Amino acid sequence: MRTEANDVSMAYDENGSGTPLVFVHGYPLSRKIWDPQLKGLANVTHMLAPDLRGHGDSPAPEGANWMHDMASDIAGLMEQVSFPIPAVICGLSMGGYVTFGFYRQFAPRLSGIILAATRAGADSEEGKQARDKAAAMAREKGAAAVVEDMLPKMLSPKTYRDKPELVAQVQAIMNSVPAETMVADLMGMRERVDATVTLEEIDLPVLILHGADDRLIPVKEAEKMHNLIRRSKLEIIPEAGHLLNMEQPERFNAAVEQFLRENFTGRG
Ligand code: MLT
Repeated sequence: MRTEANDVSMAYDENGSGTPLVFVHGYPLSRKIWDPQLKGLANVTHMLAPDLRGHGDSPAPEGANWMHDMASDIAGLMEQVSFPIPAVICGLSMGGYVTFGFYRQFAPRLSGIILAATRAGADSEEGKQARDKAAAMAREKGAAAVVEDMLPKMLSPKTYRDKPELVAQVQAIMNSVPAETMVADLMGMRERVDATVTLEEIDLPVLILHGADDRLIPVKEAEKMHNLIRRSKLEIIPEAGHLLNMEQPERFNAAVEQFLRENFTGRG
């Protein structure tokens, strides 16, 4: 499905019934990463999973993909499709950075937050240099070079070795992201604001999920967020890397279901 939000045309999937929940994908990915959730959680939650600007089937506007703009796109989409509010928002990695942007601008539209494989801090100087290097690679060598470099780090070493079909699926999703979008994301992430101060303000139920073997964002980042968000619960998922929701869909879905039942449906 597709609609116009903030002058941006957005493709999205919507499925299920129950507590409203919006899924925000990471970089360089698309809404397709949420297929195991859109199928597996349909009896539990009413889900909306958009393609962020320039990803999947959503066209790209000009310029950098600022986290707050991508958050506004989602708010616009929710209005357009009359998605029920307040809703829970679940952001994975860059989707988590967008989630913080959403909270800063639209907190009253949220009932809860799920932070998956993400971090609150801004990029370090070293991190910024790595963004510039990746952007140069995307511009000069094309998107495929970035995918080749990044793919092994998206999954746990075990998944990468033992699940070639999943590796191919992730590779296909990454290959659907054009080089221009990668550059736009990298510039947006490079300049994103530090969300650490926001953590102490959040007074909503928060579930933090992280893969034990995440090679892109260390588990200690999840622990830091858990220490600062007062109503948060932390669950480390074993045998999972950065794409924990695809690598361990049953465990991920069970954690989400329990969080929703405990906090929103009163069926604990
Ligand atoms: C992501 O998966 O969204 C990115 O790896 C996050 C990042 O590079 O900071």
